[in-house]
Amino acid sequence: MAKVKSKWICQNCGYETAGYLGKCPECGMWGSFVEEVQNNLKPQTVSPQGIINDTKPELLSEIKVGEEVRISTNIPEFDRILGGGLVQGSLILIAGDPGIGKSTILLQTGGELCKKHKKVLYVSAEESASQIKLRAQRLEINSDSLYIYPQINMENIRNEIDTINPDIIIIDSIQAIYSQTISSSAGSVSQIRECCNILMQIAKNKNITVIVIGHVTKDGSIAGPKVLEHMVDTVIYFEGDKYKSYRILRSVKNRFGNTSEVGIFEMSSKGLICVTNPNELFLNERSQESIPGSAIVVANEGTRPLLVEIQALVGTTPYPTPRRVTNGVDTSRLLQILAVLEKRVGLNLSKQDVYVNVMGGIEVDEPSADLGIALAVATCARDVVVDSQTVIIGEIGLSGEIHPVQNIEKRLNEAVLSGFKKAIIPYANKCNYDKIEIVPVKRLIDAITACVSAQ
Ligand SMILES: Nc1ncnc2c1ncn2[C@@H]1O[C@H](COP(=O)(O)OP(=O)(O)O)[C@@H](O)[C@H]1O
Ligand SMILES: [Mg+2]
Ligand SMILES: [Zn+2]
Repeated sequence: MAKVKSKWICQNCGYETAGYLGKCPECGMWGSFVEEVQNNLKPQTVSPQGIINDTKPELLSEIKVGEEVRISTNIPEFDRILGGGLVQGSLILIAGDPGIGKSTILLQTGGELCKKHKKVLYVSAEESASQIKLRAQRLEINSDSLYIYPQINMENIRNEIDTINPDIIIIDSIQAIYSQTISSSAGSVSQIRECCNILMQIAKNKNITVIVIGHVTKDGSIAGPKVLEHMVDTVIYFEGDKYKSYRILRSVKNRFGNTSEVGIFEMSSKGLICVTNPNELFLNERSQESIPGSAIVVANEGTRPLLVEIQALVGTTPYPTPRRVTNGVDTSRLLQILAVLEKRVGLNLSKQDVYVNVMGGIEVDEPSADLGIALAVATCARDVVVDSQTVIIGEIGLSGEIHPVQNIEKRLNEAVLSGFKKAIIPYANKCNYDKIEIVPVKRLIDAITACVSAQ
């Protein structure tokens, strides 16, 4: 009797072993191994990166490149993160929490592409055709070149692709479809890898753009596999606060463009609407008075400066060890800033809880926000305020010096556009600027003094 081969595969990162393991040696996750039966696995004809295996070496000087063909989605914020539109023949992954709006934006995209006489195949593995029809009616999408195909079997999907020959394929979602060449269940690493591989072959061989939806688990990783992120050309995360109306699309990997670009949308009953002036959106909930513990920073998100409010709360701790809680900024970054505040400014925080929150549910991971975070904490601890018409820009070094930041003009322009009157900036970025009052600072203590003496 032929032996049935089985492997244990980490459902998080795709690590394979012959037997069960409690903890994955690759990604460190506990209890992530699932047994998957392997049968008649076909040799791969396309690598995960889309390289076909019947190629020959060529001289670099003789390689011809075709123009990269891009199709605009007619949704400016979506085009922005794609690097100027969908690249023909590419495989794009859109990942996000359930209910964030993945199906909505892709149905809208499908509708827009049809307006350009593109043939779109929307494979729905989670919702029925009538459910999608209802959504399309609400979004006012009406198109005669948009095919809705409720299907979960990859082989059937492939056959229909051959018949319809679409320009764009949307798969909603990768975790819900399965290939019958593999016996493990839909959503397992082997299935996702196989289906993604088939879709990659279709994208590269037929030059069709394939957009794949992936769900995200509670801890923030794409459910199942990191494997998926390695295979596709572009990875886009859909973020946002489900309880608020705006949504952020962020590209974290792009073989055809800049990463760390963001697109900002507002969810409405008519679907996702591009937000052209995000700073208005992020700052409009802010009170116009100056309050201790609040500072406005200008963080670069991709190529666009965003003004965001940082809030800090500092108070005597009831616990044996004080708490450091952050929302939207990296905790280790905060710990470093607190250490500098203690050592170089003499602020005693050893018995104080410190909470730091970025308003608007966005994440700031740029060092230029350091000074804003430090001032929010310091002003709250000393019960003084940063003037509400002031923006704070600067990176803090370990000896308390303020490092220059990139694109200072762009940031200051954005602050002027949003009506700010004053900017505290690194001394090395000092420039002549007549539309806003500039306060150049060399050290963290100078910035705190500037805030205190302004009162
Ligand atoms: N009638 C409606 N009016 C406004 N927003 C709606 C309406 N129906 C659904 N939504 C929004 O659409 C979201 C669901 O979007 P969907 O594209 O199905 O998400 P996903 O595919 O990411 O799970 C809901 O969370 C809600 O915000
Ligand atoms: Mg959906
Ligand atoms: Zn793992």
